Order: sequence, then structure tokens, then C-alpha cells
Amino acid sequence: MRIGNRSFCAILVRVGGSKPTLQVFPKPNDSPMPEADHEGQRYAPDQRQETPGFYLKGSHQLDWGMKNRLARVFDPASGRTVMLAVDHGYFQGPTSGLERIDLSIVPLLPFCDALFCTRGILRSVIPAQCQKPMVLRASGGPSILRDELSDEQIAMDMDDAVRLNAAGVGIQVFIGGEHETRSVHNMTRLVDAGLRAGVPVMGITAVGKNMVRDAKYFRLACRIIAELGAQYVKTYFVEDGFETVTASCPVPIVMAGGKKLPELEALTMAYNAVQQGAAGVDMGRNIFQSEAPQAMIAAVAAVVHKNMKPKEAFELFTTLKRRAASVSEVVRMANTE
Ligand code: R5P
Repeated sequence: MRIGNRSFCAILVRVGGSKPTLQVFPKPNDSPMPEADHEGQRYAPDQRQETPGFYLKGSHQLDWGMKNRLARVFDPASGRTVMLAVDHGYFQGPTSGLERIDLSIVPLLPFCDALFCTRGILRSVIPAQCQKPMVLRASGGPSILRDELSDEQIAMDMDDAVRLNAAGVGIQVFIGGEHETRSVHNMTRLVDAGLRAGVPVMGITAVGKNMVRDAKYFRLACRIIAELGAQYVKTYFVEDGFETVTASCPVPIVMAGGKKLPELEALTMAYNAVQQGAAGVDMGRNIFQSEAPQAMIAAVAAVVHKNMKPKEAFELFTTLKRRAASVSEVVRMANTE
């Protein structure tokens, strides 16, 4: 039958023992609108679209681009990350272990989840074919030659972060520092730019020389940074009450490594941090200043992603270190023969 300019067909349908009913359908190929596909076959109208949450704390209401960048940094399987921090040169120059990033850090790239570096190092040294997510240092100003380090400014346009395909940017926030208000304002401007571009901002609790590093201070600093919009926070571990720092921060926290410790101590600190709620680490000196950086980053990754206990991780470090040493001995012998 035809109604207007469309054709319909009618069939008798009987469900179970019920009375047969007449049902009318539009004829498939008679629509005035051309269809690329067979109508009705792939719409699955009886299957509701899932609206899953997002695995990262406080990130479930962010936009897709922001979540996608976070998911490149934080492993969706463990919800955690091993970021390798090598941005120190932005105020310290060629510090110990970072004299030649091409030689010391590029070989470590396969073992980290993300690299935290400056745009200068990214453009000049990091191979563009590297598929690891890059988080870029976006603040700068005073060097180690100055006493007061809190006098920072935003040191990179968000446009450039997008141009460099960055997975995020990081900025120092000096809560309680001489230039506290400016550094907070730097961060909020960066967050606004990041929200426009879909680029997450990592706020970093920068501790002044005379400040007490305790849970009370880090609760305050992390919470201010999160309240003012950073998508995640980098902070230091404290022995007493670190779980209250992570609990009162509504977004993920990554632990900064701090000065070089013996490997077992550094692995224990990383273990305690993730067990007490950190979503991973952003460690530098404890990895690249280790006598076996590759073995160390592998051991840190086992602690972070597999909850490996510190002693076991230290054994892994020792085994990998020994193996690396014997490989380089074989290479050395081959080259001298
Ligand atoms: C941060 O503020 C620094 O520039 C480093 O990114 C940070 O200190 C992490 O490196 P490390 O583990 O060496 O402390």
C-alpha cells in the first residue's frame, strides 16, 4: 500500500498464543532519504549506550580530550603512572645525571609511562618518533643563583604545548612562599588555558627552604592547588600522615622523588606513597642518579603498577643491575678484542 509518496507492507504477527495482529512497516528501499547501510540493522535500539565512569579520581567530569591525555599518562590498567622527571635544567642547568639527556635519559624512555621535561629538551633531544606522552614544564624564572625561587612566571604558551602534542603541563606553586599569590595566579591562568585546549595541568607543591615539610603543609598546598583547578598534583612524601594528604586532595597525587636516597629507601618511599593513595610517582634523581637507572626505573614500575613489596623490588633492581653490568662487560670485551 502507499501513503503519500512512501510504500508500506503489512504482515500478520502472532506472539505465543495471543491473537494475531497486523503490523505495518515502511518498505526498506523506498525511503526518500538514501541510506548507506541497511536500515535498522546496526542501531541496536534495545541496547542502552553505556556511560561508564572514569578511573581517575575527580576526573570523571572532564572533557574527552582532557581524559584522553590523562589516560596516556596514567595507565588505565593500574590507574597509576611512573613519570620520569628530567626538567631540573630549567633552573639548575646540567645537573648531575642530566649532563647529556641524549645519552642518559633517551635509553630510559621505554621504561617510563611519561616524561616530564622542558620544551627545549623535547625539541632538541627527544626523538619525535617517541610514542611516550610528554608532560612539559611550563613555569620558570629564577635560577639556583638566586635565593628566592618563588619568583616564577608562566614560561610557555598553551598553544605551544598543543603544537608539541603534549599530554599535559606542569607548574610550580609556592604556597606560603614570598611570591605565593603570583605563583597561584600563574597556575590558574595555565589551568584556564589548559581547559580551553584540553590539556591537563599538574600543579607542583614547591617547598621553600625554610618551610616545614609535614602532612599539614602538604594537605594545605595540595588542596589549594586542586581547588584552583589543577587536574593532578605532584607533591613530596611524608612519613607521618601522607594518607591524609591524598585523602583530602580530590584529584590524583603523584609523588616527587626528592634528593637521591639509597635504592631500597627510594623504593620503600614509592611503595608507601602508592599504598597510601598516590596515583604513582614523578621521580627524577632517584632514577637518573642511580648507579643503574634502567634497573631502578624497572623496579619503581613494579612497585607502582604491581604493588611489589620494597624488598622484592630491591632484589629485582639488584638482578637487573647485575644483568646490565654483565651485558656491558660482554660488549666491552667484544670491542677490545
Ligand atoms: C620539580 O619541581 C622538579 O623540577 C622536579 O621535577 C622534581 O623535583 C622531581 O624530581 P626529583 O625526583 O629529582 O625530585
